[in-house]
Amino acid sequence: MNQAGLFTAYRIQEKRLENAQTCSLLLDGSLPDALPGQFVMAWLPGIDERPFSLSDNDPIRITVADVGSFSHALNQLQPGDHLWLRCPLGKGFMPRGHSHLLLGGGYGAAPLKFLAKSLCAQGDQVGVCLGARSCADLLFVEEFESLDCQVWLATEDGSAGKQGMLTALLPEAQNALKPETIYACGPIGMLLATASWARTAGLPAQLSFESVMRCGVGLCGSCELPEETCQQFGLTPDFLVCHDGPVGEISTNHSK
Ligand SMILES: Cc1cc2nc3c(=O)[nH]c(=O)nc-3n(C[C@H](O)[C@H](O)[C@H](O)COP(=O)(O)OP(=O)(O)OC[C@H]3O[C@@H](n4cnc5c(N)ncnc54)[C@H](O)[C@@H]3O)c2cc1C
Ligand code: FES
Repeated sequence: MNQAGLFTAYRIQEKRLENAQTCSLLLDGSLPDALPGQFVMAWLPGIDERPFSLSDNDPIRITVADVGSFSHALNQLQPGDHLWLRCPLGKGFMPRGHSHLLLGGGYGAAPLKFLAKSLCAQGDQVGVCLGARSCADLLFVEEFESLDCQVWLATEDGSAGKQGMLTALLPEAQNALKPETIYACGPIGMLLATASWARTAGLPAQLSFESVMRCGVGLCGSCELPEETCQQFGLTPDFLVCHDGPVGEISTNHSK
C-alpha cells in the first residue's frame, strides 16, 4: 500500500524498450485505486526526483523518454534495481460517455495507454490518434491495436500514417468515431490545437498538462501554469498542475 506523501521502494521487474529513446519500467507492485492520468514522483537517491505519468497500474508501469540527466538515469536502470515512488498523485481523467477519442503526442501516449485499457475493459468504443517525429518514435501502436482501439497515426516526416501534425487527424477520427469526449496529452501547441478543435466541435476535452514540479502535492507553487495559459484554456487562475491537474477539463464555450 502506497501513501501519497511518502516514498515506497519498488523493485524493477521488467524493462521494455519501447523505441530508441524510450523505455518502460514495470515494477513489483500495483496501485489498484490509481486513475489513468495520475502521476508518480520518482526518486533516485543522490540524483533527483521527477514526475511521470502512470502508463499502467497493475503492475505499476512508467514510460520514460531519455531527454536529460534524470530520465537518462532511469533509462539505465535494470531489472532488480530499486526505484522510489510517491504515488498516485494528482487528478486523473474522468471519462464521460461511451465513445472516446484519445490524442497522444510523443510520450504523451503513456497515460492514454492506461486510459484506453480501462475504457476498453468496460466495453467502450475507443479511438486513438498518435503522433511523433517519425515512425521509429511512435509509442504503443501495437498495444493500442491489441486493445481493439481504432488507431490513426501522424508523423512529421511522413514515415508512418499522415504526414504532419497529430491534430490533422482530428477531422477523420471525429467522423469515424463520433466521440463524446476528447482526451489529450502532449506538447502545449498540440493541446492548444486540440482545445480549439474541441470548442469548434462543441465537445468536452480533458487535457493533461506539464510543468516543473518540486513537491508534487500543492505546497511549493513551482508547477503553477502561467496566467496566459490558464486564460487560453479557460482553466481556473493559478492552476497547480500537481494539485488541480495534471488533467484539466477545458471549457468548450470559451471564445478565445
Ligand atoms: C505530470 C507530468 C507527467 C510526466 N510524464 C512523463 C512521462 O510519462 N514520460 C516522460 O518521459 N516524461 C514525463 N514527464 C516529464 C519528466 O518529468 C521530466 O521533465 C523529463 O523526464 C525530463 O527530465 P530530465 O531531468 O531528464 O531532463 P532535464 O535535465 O530537465 O532537461 C534536459 C533537456 O531535455 C529537455 N527536456 C526537458 N523536458 C523535456 C520534455 N518533457 N520533452 C522534451 N525535452 C525535454 C530540456 O529542455 C533540456 O534541454 C512528465 C512531467 C509531468 C509534469
Ligand atoms: S509541485 Fe509544488 S505546488 Fe505543484
